[in-house]
Amino acid sequence: MKQLLLIAHTPSPNTQRMMEAVLRGARHPDISGVTVQHIPPLQAGSDDVLRADALILGTTENLGYMAGALKDWFDRIYYPCLEKTQAKPFAFYIRAGHDGTGTRRAIETITTGLRWRCVQEPLLCRGEWQEEFLQQCEQLGMTMAASLDAGII
Ligand SMILES: Cc1cc2nc3c(=O)[nH]c(=O)nc-3n(C[C@H](O)[C@H](O)[C@H](O)COP(=O)(O)O)c2cc1C
Repeated sequence: MKQLLLIAHTPSPNTQRMMEAVLRGARHPDISGVTVQHIPPLQAGSDDVLRADALILGTTENLGYMAGALKDWFDRIYYPCLEKTQAKPFAFYIRAGHDGTGTRRAIETITTGLRWRCVQEPLLCRGEWQEEFLQQCEQLGMTMAASLDAGII
């Protein structure tokens, strides 16, 4: 079984539902060769990254940047992973009350340093809450898991 790891910060009911939607999509019954696990960023370490075949990152935008919890995770895993996870496929989503660009730029900068491969267009769920965000998260989870299952990422 291939391992898909979701590192998502969920400080609010909406972001909790987004995380659950990603898991629901990744656990689609037609996808048989992938297991998906969610670990909150403050509880995840470099060993979790090393054993994952692909990653999905989820964060809010706070003060123009990714949540401190996700930044703390990057700070702790960066050097332990740097030489061992090049080309790791990943995707990310952002829940931003009104912007999201600073968070996107920051994640892209750090993951470029890690030489990870972003295999999906970043999902930016911006502005007033929309139930449609949940379908987009579910789709993201399903696409990542199906791509991993098919061996195309
Ligand atoms: C301290 C704080 C700072 C925030 N800063 C930003 C920001 O810089 N840009 C932005 O788009 N949203 C910002 N937000 C809004 C959050 O992104 C939003 O509250 C979060 O994604 C949760 O959304 P929800 O209400 O749909 O659960 C901020 C929220 C808080 C609490």
